[in-house]
Amino acid sequence: MDFTTDDIATLPDPAYAVVACRLVYRWLDDKPAFLDRVRHVLAPGGTFWVVTEVAGRRPASDPRKHLGITAAEAETLTAGWSVVRTADLDVLRCYALRP
Ligand SMILES: C[S@@+](CC[C@H](N)C(=O)[O-])C[C@H]1O[C@@H](n2cnc3c(N)ncnc32)[C@H](O)[C@@H]1O
Repeated sequence: MDFTTDDIATLPDPAYAVVACRLVYRWLDDKPAFLDRVRHVLAPGGTFWVVTEVAGRRPASDPRKHLGITAAEAETLTAGWSVVRTADLDVLRCYALRP
């Protein structure tokens, strides 16, 4: 499904223990709306797992340098969760977020 525009009420169960989002967050135009939808389907105590490239980790000459999220986009991602844990993997950052 398109998680931004499709009806999430069609999902079989609105309470998922884990929502995984690998190399997707960067592509979403309305990130706050997407995060609201994740919170809606995530079970209490569940984990939102995100892997995304972060800006500034590639050389300026690298044509893929635009793939990283900005500091502001990272702030949008991590705001409002009770637990935010991160781990860095080269150009990527992993986030474990809990409501
Ligand atoms: C770089 S691929 C990553 C694919 C896979 N998650 C992985 O880690 O290999 C980006 C993915 O984002 C998905 N995507 C982008 N916008 C989406 C949306 N609004 N709803 C659902 N998936 C979306 C695309 O379908 C595509 O599969």
